[in-house]
Amino acid sequence: MRSWLFVPGDSEKKLAKSLTSNADAVILDLEDSVALANKKSAREITAAFLQGAKNNGPAFWIRVNALDTGLTDDDLKAVMDARPTGIMLPKTLSGADVTHLDAKLTVLEAKNNIEDGTTLISAVASETAASLFTLGTYQGASKRLSALTWGAEDLSADLGAQTSRDNDGGLTDPYRLARALCLAGAVAAETQPVDTVFVNFRDDDGLKVECDAACRDGFTGKLAIHPNQIDIINQAFTPSEDTIQRATEIIATFANAGNAGVVSINGEMFDRPHLLRAEKTLARAKLAGQD
Ligand code: COA
Ligand code: MG
Repeated sequence: MRSWLFVPGDSEKKLAKSLTSNADAVILDLEDSVALANKKSAREITAAFLQGAKNNGPAFWIRVNALDTGLTDDDLKAVMDARPTGIMLPKTLSGADVTHLDAKLTVLEAKNNIEDGTTLISAVASETAASLFTLGTYQGASKRLSALTWGAEDLSADLGAQTSRDNDGGLTDPYRLARALCLAGAVAAETQPVDTVFVNFRDDDGLKVECDAACRDGFTGKLAIHPNQIDIINQAFTPSEDTIQRATEIIATFANAGNAGVVSINGEMFDRPHLLRAEKTLARAKLAGQD
């Protein structure tokens, strides 16, 4: 999943519009983009929309409210019947929260006649100061876990920071740390690392720079808040023709060299990490329909 578009779960207009975006995943949000007074109606609107739209286009995820809000169970009850692709859990404190959600989903799948283990989980895993110290705990938390992402907005509120960006628009140190730990935590847990939102949704150039940096570092997708961000994200996270050709050449050179640990191509050395990287590139190209 390259692009993940957030849509406020209480906005029928935006929900309808999400169907015409090219997002790989649409996240119907019951959490931060919905005011407390609207939580109940957002559940109803979201569930009705999902019932009507589920076989149509993108993967539909639901972002529920965090486990400590007392709202999570009602969120889940409202939407599970409509069989979302997955549940995004915000403000997780460690892998134990994912295991906790896994247990809830197992019960709800049984109640709704859904095959055990079908519903996936993604976690927003860096939204509090404490959660930065547990980003290595997601490995083995649940077979359902398919993505980890991070958030700067709630983390900055928890840290008491004035902003998460410096005067040049770059992330400041605490958020660079959260980003890097999320990437490493996701890879360690053998799940997809997804970069956080870029909130200046009219700044296409800024978004492109941030997507390219995320892709360079190992993220394989990015959250979005506006439909106009989707094409830029999809393009950035789809391996280019040149990249695919290079990866194919590396894999072929290793294959032709038998069981060699190291090969050379045009005076450059390639060993096992390069082979693994090339294989990952082709796997991503395949997912993006590029093979
Ligand atoms: N999903 C679907 N449609 C969206 C959308 C989204 N995330 N964001 C905007 N749109 C729609 C608008 O409704 C509008 O539709 P229209 O052409 O039929 O009138 C169109 O896209 C253009 O929107 P625009 O006028 O540029 O932006 P806006 O001022 O209406 O909305 C935001 C700006 C930030 C409020 C809106 O993008 C949004 O709600 N984003 C998601 C926020 C969210 O979920 N946050 C939680 C995660 S951090
Ligand atoms: Mg938030």
